[in-house]
Amino acid sequence: MSLRLGDEAPDFTAETTDGTVHFHQWLGNSWGVLFSHPKDFTPVCTTELGRVSALKGEFEKRNTKVIGLSVDSLESHKGWIGDIKETQGHALNFPLIADPDKKVANLYGMIHPNASDTATVRSVFVIGPDKKIKLTLTYPASTGRNFDELLRVIDSLQLTAKHKVATPVDWKQGQDVIIVPSVSDADAKSQFPNGWKTLKPYLRVVAQPKG
Ligand code: BEZ
Repeated sequence: MSLRLGDEAPDFTAETTDGTVHFHQWLGNSWGVLFSHPKDFTPVCTTELGRVSALKGEFEKRNTKVIGLSVDSLESHKGWIGDIKETQGHALNFPLIADPDKKVANLYGMIHPNASDTATVRSVFVIGPDKKIKLTLTYPASTGRNFDELLRVIDSLQLTAKHKVATPVDWKQGQDVIIVPSVSDADAKSQFPNGWKTLKPYLRVVAQPKG
């Protein structure tokens, strides 16, 4: 059965371009992003790994560790990462899991046999500090992901975790947010002393909390 939101992210030990990673231990108290690639030496993947490397500082600001996976060998990864620096202008600066026996790919359901028997699809798992899965995404091999959107979702998840607010359609950092329905008006008064706008009893809009 596929992994669902709220499930514990399966733990594993794997070889990566940064050495052996014991996944839960490596995550520590951070948020995590685990994302898969169909194959080494493929064009879309090369652009994605360059982009994630360029965004490393943005993930760090969000206390988020990033780890990639493709079902090729460590030797293959080591040959490929030079191309990322050469063509994308950013050297790989996060671990890339070598998973030639597909152990991690199968654990996370990253192989969709009706798409390909051998390659992983573009899966993304965002994992909270509690090791629970907070978001899953699945893209086809031919579509590169939008990692700015992933940062936006992490911002939203972290706001929800810290302030019990949700984010509306197309929300961007700094815009108004929504008080989650499970917070009563009485509790909202102490949490949001500057008030909020009630458009409907279930739709209460408030300035984005700081911090
Ligand atoms: C790519 O990463 O470029 C790719 C991989 C598999 C199929 C299509 C594109």
